[in-house]
Amino acid sequence: VSLKAYNTFGVDVAARYFAEADDDQQVRQALAAARERQVPLLVLGGGSNLLLTADVEALVLHMVGRGIRVLADDGQRVEIEAEAGEPWHPFVLWTLAHGLVGLENLSLIPGSVGASPVQNIGAYGVELKDCFLGLTALDRQTGEVRQFDLQDCAFAYRDSLFKRESGRWIILRVRFALSRNAALHLDYGPVRQRLAEQGIESPNASDVSRAICAIRSEKLPDPAVLGNAGSFFKNPLVPAELAQRLQAEYLDLVAYPQPDGQVKLAAGWLIDKAGWKGFRDGDAGVHRLQALVLVNYGNATGQQLLDLARRIQADIAERFGVSLEIEPNVL
Ligand code: EPU
Repeated sequence: VSLKAYNTFGVDVAARYFAEADDDQQVRQALAAARERQVPLLVLGGGSNLLLTADVEALVLHMVGRGIRVLADDGQRVEIEAEAGEPWHPFVLWTLAHGLVGLENLSLIPGSVGASPVQNIGAYGVELKDCFLGLTALDRQTGEVRQFDLQDCAFAYRDSLFKRESGRWIILRVRFALSRNAALHLDYGPVRQRLAEQGIESPNASDVSRAICAIRSEKLPDPAVLGNAGSFFKNPLVPAELAQRLQAEYLDLVAYPQPDGQVKLAAGWLIDKAGWKGFRDGDAGVHRLQALVLVNYGNATGQQLLDLARRIQADIAERFGVSLEIEPNVL
């Protein structure tokens, strides 16, 4: 089975076996089938945080279970549960249509509800963990279903328990704590600016969502048009001394001091400064408008995209002394 339609890079590799799971029972059946055939099980959501570099000798399980329900509603705080297979952005729109505040800054992120906790998706000053209540996951080692609350998940920047123990947990459904009247997060400059340009003085959550959709559509390629997996590198954390040295040399360095004294640098800025923006080798390239995003112009293989990433990493290490970490899962 070709996985081209199941990864947003549009890389054409084959899966040995492929199945879809609509509910918990079908997830268990797929696990049993993989065990019987003595192949690993690879769980796939939207395939938007994945680089496939070779045929997959596994049973690929596409999570397609749908369903959104209200668990509790006290008139202000509302608890929502969504099945792993719900596509992320339509889920965000559902919450906004129901007057719920919290997920608007995470509008238009590709992928599925079930994948969202794995890398603790984040954008424009909000991370998934800020609205996260809990999740239900299946332990592949024991077959047990386990409940996780916020503390259990060890969320960090683009990281979680599920990323660290990758291959152990199958996320079945996720719970969110939203609100009818929470404050909006407008600290990210471009969002404020966009709203001001539109003459919106006291925005609601849907206004913020629309502004963010507009910003993202301008800068980030639509995977349906140009294959990509969003940011290909994490923004690196570096010691303050290194940041200071770079700042002395590059006055426009983009750097965000962290509470722990380290400094987070904008990887996109580093890659851009090094001249990679718009670079293309065959069908593998660096996006014209956002240097942090690698793109597939059509028939790039996962290996070609990975080779390009390695060249960029080596160049950034040499020029700036900064090591860039790849963000999507490379298989
Ligand atoms: N920049 C450049 N050149 C570029 C790209 C960026 O100079 O080619 C500069 C920008 O001018 C800006 C700074 O770098 O000063 C940061 O850029 P931006 O605000 O676009 O955000 P980012 O750090 O590149 C991160 C997330 C995105 C998220 C945005 C907005 C990571 C790895 N990426 O990108 O997340 O949408 O912030 O919050 O943290 C993703 O994870 O797939 C993703 C798209």
